[in-house]
Amino acid sequence: MLDVPAQAAARFITFEGGEGVGKSTQVKRLLVRLNRLGFEAVRTREPGGTPKAEAVRAFILQGRSESWGAGAEAVLFAAARLDHVRQLIAPSLQTGKWVISDRFHDSTRAYQGLTGGVDDRLIRGLETLALDGHQPDITFVLDMDPATAFARVNARELEQALVQTGDRFEKEDLEWHRRLRRAFLDIAAANPERCVVLPANQSEDNLEHEVWDVLVRRFPEIEARGAWSAP
Ligand code: TMP
Repeated sequence: MLDVPAQAAARFITFEGGEGVGKSTQVKRLLVRLNRLGFEAVRTREPGGTPKAEAVRAFILQGRSESWGAGAEAVLFAAARLDHVRQLIAPSLQTGKWVISDRFHDSTRAYQGLTGGVDDRLIRGLETLALDGHQPDITFVLDMDPATAFARVNARELEQALVQTGDRFEKEDLEWHRRLRRAFLDIAAANPERCVVLPANQSEDNLEHEVWDVLVRRFPEIEARGAWSAP
């Protein structure tokens, strides 16, 4: 018998990584698995998740803040995050709903901080403000060689006839994306209790099972509901 409190706290799970590593697919699949076991859960994303944060998303990803520099963009991402935490993440967790977010604060650390050169003190200060104490319980860092990830993104966009494409961060060159990959791996190494790195260059099904395996081992309330890691 597992010793699990009747009403275990809701969990906050984030997925991070470079472009085209398959985060969104895994977020969707995890939501289905949790719902199937009777956990109430919400799926969200960053930047975004609330109307105000989605407005910031559109502004940044259309390139309208590019000339402001990475520091100002870090502030914009944090402003969006503050609203997201206050309006969606914190209230969901407080009412017992698990939250699964496609990106969160590690993206600011990796993109604007470690890759974009924004001072770590500013990044930390913005985190204190925006997170308001809501650190993820677990963060999956999906790791893949950017050249492979780009090939997948291009194939998908061609398929969807979206060839004009790509938001602005996808346009940076390959060397930049290699530094970004290293940045996410460094963040994971510095936060081993929170971050789990999983190789993303494998089938979506395999990756889904790896994510689930980790969660079953990490959170006893999942196993208590009869979930085994096998499909
Ligand atoms: P995506 O949700 O499609 O991955 O697009 C979001 C883009 O914004 C992606 O290129 C990563 C970037 N981004 C940052 O640069 N900093 C951040 O804090 C977040 C959340 C995203």
